[in-house]
Amino acid sequence: GEVVYQGDLSKLEKATKSYTVRYLTGEEKIETPAHRRKWNNYIKVEGAAHNNLKGIDVIFPLHIMTVVTGVSGSGKSSLVRDVFFKSLSRFYEEDGEQPGIFNRLSGDMHLVKHIEFVDQNPIGKSSRSNPATYLKAFDEIRKLYAEQQAAKQMGFTPAYFSFNVEGGRCEECKGDGTITVEMQFMADITLTCESCHGKRFKQDILEIEYRGKNINDVLEMTINQAIEFFSEQQGSTEKKIIKRLKPLQDVGLGYIKLGQASSTLSGGENQRVKLAYFLSNEKQEPTIFVFDEPTTGLHFHDIKTLLKAFDSLIEKGHTVVIIEHNMDVIKCADYVIDMGPEGGDKGGFLVCAGTPEEIASCEKSYTGKYLKDKL
Ligand SMILES: Nc1ncnc2c1ncn2[C@@H]1O[C@H](COP(=O)(O)OP(=O)(O)O)[C@@H](O)[C@H]1O
Ligand SMILES: [Mg+2]
Ligand SMILES: [Zn+2]
Repeated sequence: GEVVYQGDLSKLEKATKSYTVRYLTGEEKIETPAHRRKWNNYIKVEGAAHNNLKGIDVIFPLHIMTVVTGVSGSGKSSLVRDVFFKSLSRFYEEDGEQPGIFNRLSGDMHLVKHIEFVDQNPIGKSSRSNPATYLKAFDEIRKLYAEQQAAKQMGFTPAYFSFNVEGGRCEECKGDGTITVEMQFMADITLTCESCHGKRFKQDILEIEYRGKNINDVLEMTINQAIEFFSEQQGSTEKKIIKRLKPLQDVGLGYIKLGQASSTLSGGENQRVKLAYFLSNEKQEPTIFVFDEPTTGLHFHDIKTLLKAFDSLIEKGHTVVIIEHNMDVIKCADYVIDMGPEGGDKGGFLVCAGTPEEIASCEKSYTGKYLKDKL
């Protein structure tokens, strides 16, 4: 909410608070990795012929970061989303949409247990879903409140601290804190609930305090503040809360409020909440994570954080496949699959595949030309 820098582009100052300026002056940058991860195992898509794809065979290495590149309309989404993701989704989860046309899958499918498509759509459908509920941190927070002496005396179980069920929530707004009034011919308007004054719970629930804060005060805290608050006195429930919230801090979302409705998060923020969820997941069965242009709408600095999250997924034994135009992401790939050469009918071929260095030395590849300057 602050203007951190303004001025002439030709006279950029160093050491400002502006990340934009720091990336422009080169004070901060996304480094090219010193080496590429090696791979042995892979899944091969054979005879992909969906949309403009020309019956191609493509290898997707496992346990590394693969980036699929190519001009718009070259067939990236047709290959990755419609054939690779949808066919494997049927293979592992035994459901999902009909995949695009291809012959068969071969290779090391048995080394993977799941495939996930991570998009920027809002997490959860309910207006009451928020980062804390999505990462299940709120379950632990409700337990903590129910453990307080005053709550026990009143018989308030953890369910009383939920805004999804009747009991403790304000019934006027059903725990939203706001009332939406539908207006004819105009956009709906949202008003603070008059009954709870936006505090989402009944008065006797709000009187239950844990170290001077009630449940709504906690929902109003940022992830960073909450981690600090619950670290001050580390019982077993507090430790569980911190463990659930930490991944949100790790993906750079420490500034978000625990109770902020998912519908108000930006696309990039939603994507990172999902990533945090996968990073916090204890059952670490090997999974392939697929992203279609994940840097859309992200700043250089956000991209840096996103790349770190990709690295942690791979460290946990997962596989990352990304469709991306952003050169900073492409140069960080272990393996590149370059589609094209053009869009539409003149595309749908595999132009070349290999490390970024190999793509850069490929004459036919447009991606290679631009990549040369980056390496
Ligand atoms: N549902 C569809 N029906 C017919 N053609 C499609 C459909 N979806 C995409 N195409 C065409 O297939 C080609 C490849 O599209 P797409 O895979 O979305 O490219 P990219 O993701 O590389 O931008 C394009 O020429 C596009 O117009
Ligand atoms: Mg696409
Ligand atoms: Zn209310």
